[in-house]
Amino acid sequence: MPRHFLNLTDAGGDAVAAMLNDAMARKTARGGLPKGQADADAPLAGHVLAMVFEKSSTRTRVSFDMAMRQLGGSAIVLDAGTTQLGRGETIADTARVLSRMADAIMIRTDDHAKIEELAAYASVPVINGLTDLSHPCQIMADLQTVLEHGKALPGLEVAWLGDGNNVLNSIVEAAGLLKFNVRVGVPEGYDSDTGFIARARQGGAVISLHRDPAAAVNGADVVVTDTWISMGQTGVEARVAAMTPYQVNEALMALAARDALFLHCLPAHRCEEVTDGVIDGPQSVVWDEAENRIHAQKAVLRWAFGQL
Ligand code: CP
Ligand code: NVA
Repeated sequence: MPRHFLNLTDAGGDAVAAMLNDAMARKTARGGLPKGQADADAPLAGHVLAMVFEKSSTRTRVSFDMAMRQLGGSAIVLDAGTTQLGRGETIADTARVLSRMADAIMIRTDDHAKIEELAAYASVPVINGLTDLSHPCQIMADLQTVLEHGKALPGLEVAWLGDGNNVLNSIVEAAGLLKFNVRVGVPEGYDSDTGFIARARQGGAVISLHRDPAAAVNGADVVVTDTWISMGQTGVEARVAAMTPYQVNEALMALAARDALFLHCLPAHRCEEVTDGVIDGPQSVVWDEAENRIHAQKAVLRWAFGQL
C-alpha cells in the first residue's frame, strides 16, 4: 500500500513530529545553497511528482516543485483545465495513468471525496495539496514555523479567528496529534467540521468554541486567521458581514500574549481578515511560514516515499 497523505492522521503524531524534525534539520543543513540546488544526499533522485491543480495556487505549486528539486527529483504541473481530467476522464483512470508515469501525485481539488477516490485507485503516494475539507501540508509548515520561533507544541494556546474552514480543520487535527489547544473564534453559521473537533478532543486537545473574538485571543500564544472567502465559496456579502468582528487588527492582537506569533497561510486579503499593521508587524511570521512550505513539503515527500 502506498503511503497517502490526505490528512495528518494518515501519518500520525509520531511521524508528524519526525517530519518536523527532518524539515528543520534539512533547512539548517542547506545553509545558503541556491534554492534550486539539490541537497547533498539528493534522497529523491530520479523521482517525479505529478501535481494536479483544480484550483489556483502560488505557494503549494512553487513549494512542491522546489521541494522535489532540492530532494534531487522533479515535478510536472497539470492544470485541470488543460488536461483530460477537465474534459471528463474519470478520477480512477487518471489515478491509474499517473501512477504508471510518475512516482507520486499531489492534488489540489474541491471535494475531499475526489482525493479519496484518487488515492483508492493510485498505486503511488497521493498528497493533499488542499481540499474543501483540509490543508495538512500547510499545517506542517505552520507547526515548523511555531517551533522555529521557540515555542513548544504541547500545551500551546492557538487562537483561530474568522471562517471555520479547511485550514482550521487541519490545525484542529494537529492539536489532537501533538497535544496543543485551539480556541476557535468563528461566527455562528460558519463553524468548522465537528468530526475533526471530536477526534482532537479524544486525542487530549482542548478545543474551545467562542463567538467573542476577544475571549478567543485572550492570552493566546499564536493567533491565526485566513481568508473569509475560500476558493469556490459564494455568499461574499454575508460572509464579510459575519466575520468583520473577527478581523485580526492591532487591538485584537494586543489581547494575546506579549510574545504571541501571528500566522496566515496566505494569500492575505489585507484590510479584511487582517490589517497591514498586524501582517507587517513585529509579531507576524508569515514569510517564514510561506518559506517553510518548501521545507515541510520535503519532509512530507520523504515520509510518503518511506524515508521517514
Ligand atoms: N497557502 C497556500 O496554500 O497558498 P497557495 O494557495 O498559493 O498554494
Ligand atoms: N481557505 C483557503 C486557503 C487557501 C490557501 C481556501 O481554501 O481558499
